[in-house]
Amino acid sequence: MPTVKDIRQQAGEEPITMLTAYDAPTAAVVDDAGVDMILVGDSMGNTALGYDTTLPVTVDEIASTTGAVSRATEDALVVADMPFLSFGADEAAAIENCGRMLKEEDADAVKLECGPHTVELTERLTNLGIPVMAHLGLTPQHVNQLGGFFRQGTDQDAAQAMLELAEQHEEAGAFSLVLEHVPANVAADITDALDIPTIGIGAGPDTDGQVLVVNDILGLSERTPPFSEQFGDVKGEMERAVEDYRDAVESGEFPAEEHSHVEEGVENLY
Ligand code: KIV
Repeated sequence: MPTVKDIRQQAGEEPITMLTAYDAPTAAVVDDAGVDMILVGDSMGNTALGYDTTLPVTVDEIASTTGAVSRATEDALVVADMPFLSFGADEAAAIENCGRMLKEEDADAVKLECGPHTVELTERLTNLGIPVMAHLGLTPQHVNQLGGFFRQGTDQDAAQAMLELAEQHEEAGAFSLVLEHVPANVAADITDALDIPTIGIGAGPDTDGQVLVVNDILGLSERTPPFSEQFGDVKGEMERAVEDYRDAVESGEFPAEEHSHVEEGVENLY
């Protein structure tokens, strides 16, 4: 099982793989495939809970899903994504919420959507023994401030500010950095500037690793971002299975003899 130290040391070596998971069976498949890290993403808001954004996701929802994912995972490093307002407002509350993921739900690390307000918190959490994965670029918890899910770091000043924040989080102890929806050249420069690994999503080929939302790669999402890729058609397979079940019940083919048991010792009841 990789530790956060192993992941740190993978920077510039083997590409690091990460996928999200929101339940135990999916986590088991991702883990068995040898993916390095499983992110219990707050993207569960859109992908699993039926919300339009990640904002309504609660600490309890991330916690119980992290528990399910951890129980199904033998090898991968499990990272709990801290939801909107579970950190950043009050330090003690943030420590309690993040600590709960390790203490009660067996996560190995937490991820924070970052800004200037998370530098000190990253240091505090790291000092307390809670490994932090930082996240810069498009941070969907800021959708109301950003005005949409747009690419970030698209001018010199914004790219420079992103690099500085990345360096501050590295300095504060983050063990890795997610870069979401940023120009490939900006992500490449940030990757070069840091010792810790960068994990890109919509950030081009030059980050140390890649992460995608599992529902998107499986073909389960209604809408996918332009930087994602569908690697399977699980929705099509689910539709086929559910329709076959419905047809089998309606036609009387199911249940068949092998699905039923007759208790010979029970007399006719009427
Ligand atoms: O919530 C999530 O799934 C994420 C990834 C897209 C990095 O934050």
